Amino acid sequence: MRKSISSNPVEGIKAASNYLRGTLQKSLLDGATGTIAENDTQVSKFHGIYQQDDRDVRENRRRQKLEPDHSFMVRARVPGGICKPAQWLALDAIATRWANHSLRLTTRQAFQFHGIVKHDLKSSIQAINDSLMDTIAACGDVNRNVMCTALPELSQLHTQVYQTAASLSEHLTPNTRAYHEIWLDQKKVNDSKDNEPIYGDHYLPRKFKIAFAIPPHNDVDVLAHDLGFIATEDAGKLTGFTITVAGGMGATHGDATTYPKLAVALGWCKPDQVTEISEAIVTIQRDFGDRSKRKHARFKYTVEDRGLAWLRQELERRLGYLIEPAQTYEFTRNGDHFGWQLSDDGSWHLLLFTENGRLADTDRAKQLTGMREIARVHKGDFRLTPNQNVVIANVAASQKPAIDALVQQHGLDSYKQLSRLRLHSLACVALPTCGQAMAEAERYLPDLIAKVEKLLQQYQLQNQAITIRMTGCPNGCARPYLAEIGLVGKAPGRFNLHLGAAFNGTRLNQMIKENADEADILAVLDQLFAQYSANRRDNEHFGDYFVRSQQASPMEVDQHA
Ligand code: HEM
Ligand code: SF4
Repeated sequence: MRKSISSNPVEGIKAASNYLRGTLQKSLLDGATGTIAENDTQVSKFHGIYQQDDRDVRENRRRQKLEPDHSFMVRARVPGGICKPAQWLALDAIATRWANHSLRLTTRQAFQFHGIVKHDLKSSIQAINDSLMDTIAACGDVNRNVMCTALPELSQLHTQVYQTAASLSEHLTPNTRAYHEIWLDQKKVNDSKDNEPIYGDHYLPRKFKIAFAIPPHNDVDVLAHDLGFIATEDAGKLTGFTITVAGGMGATHGDATTYPKLAVALGWCKPDQVTEISEAIVTIQRDFGDRSKRKHARFKYTVEDRGLAWLRQELERRLGYLIEPAQTYEFTRNGDHFGWQLSDDGSWHLLLFTENGRLADTDRAKQLTGMREIARVHKGDFRLTPNQNVVIANVAASQKPAIDALVQQHGLDSYKQLSRLRLHSLACVALPTCGQAMAEAERYLPDLIAKVEKLLQQYQLQNQAITIRMTGCPNGCARPYLAEIGLVGKAPGRFNLHLGAAFNGTRLNQMIKENADEADILAVLDQLFAQYSANRRDNEHFGDYFVRSQQASPMEVDQHA
């Protein structure tokens, strides 16, 4: 079943790593360099660690014949995005002691630290573990952080769905003791502990992503995932899940064999079937995914190549029973609902905006300090949203005034003044840390949005919610292909402009201008906003209007700008 792997060196590195040990221990002890051995840079991803360098100074250092300014990105796994105040304080302490004084909330409900030097890696990972979180499987060719809707207003249902997501995440975590040996100094007990019944010694051909959604909210972008579970309910009680498969965002510029793809419905299952069905699907991908070519190794290509009927048959063969037909679902929106909300059980939840997920102390607002002060008094929990925002969840009515005062004092209530465009924006990290970035994202999108806001005002569209997402390269970490306005980095200052995704995350956008600079982007949007403002139907979203207008008179796709 396993395709030839000779042309793919990562497969060889995984197999030789002895269940993810590689030579990491030796690399960490080597004081002569700030880097780890090249093969270990692949192995370390499975431990949630990426070796990076500061690309802002790369060229300058090269001219001075200095090695790049290396440091590490560390991602802490937070299944369903929920953590306690004590955990928040521990993460904050790591950010200020060992990382670059910022906490990055990711688009998949995890935390990222940037700028940790090799010497501090072990202390940082140990501190994450002390706070009862970990970094294993936050990256690498395994199942990643399992996402779960962050909206608390359907609380009983949410609790049930969250528990299912958290227990699935636990079930799919790798078994290897390597993590404990390398980072937590635990002794190697015996090799039998390294049995990986789900993953085997090669792990998966590529990363694997799972999300749980509760209609009508599609805040997790469930259809962007390899495997999705869409809750079905009866009178507020969970009855089961419609199973979706084979979604994925990544693509490569100029390679038509790679593309973003929306997941499709496969069937329906009861809550107690989620684990066995997920395990069967993950092992199908382990056995049939294309290990010869990493760009063709995601589950979406396995299913595309072999067909949905094949997948169902193989799944049913492994399970020994038939899968029930999918139930219909309806999503009305994607994104977060800011401000206070009251849930069924009488507790309050405050959802705050953090631009592109970066929590730091700046001249404009002391967000990192503010969240620390809140964590010191808060008795409930924190929830990271799939849109790089944070919920201060489960606040008693009597605690609300204290939380409100801290929020105001530290400028954390910006959501009250910001446009709905900005509140629906996402950007990946990109420069200066991400080695894949071809253009800016996190550092540039806020400025571009200010210019797009002016255009919207010109056409009295300033109150319109529009999703806008930017990434520094086509890998798609901020799900740009599901934005009504998607910008995918091509070169410094240049983006491919994609338009027309559905606001609720159920239709991908299409590329309409390649290699566009800021002036090009604004010119296209100016023209379209004018038409949208004059011709839109009641409550018609911008993405839907764009698709309708294309049917009447298609825009010429500009691929040679
Ligand atoms: C070949 C495909 C991909 C590669 C090589 C890749 C690589 C990376 C790297 C190196 C980073 C770290 C950037 C930094 O923190 O400096 C990153 C961040 C991230 N990636 Fe990916 N990525 C890929 C695809 C995806 C996709 C398809 C998704 C999900 C839609 C995703 C989700 C994330 C998330 C959530 C982050 C955290 C930062 C953020 O929220 O912007 N990645 N990725
Ligand atoms: S989309 Fe590209 S540039 Fe952005 S974080 Fe992902 S890999 Fe890096």
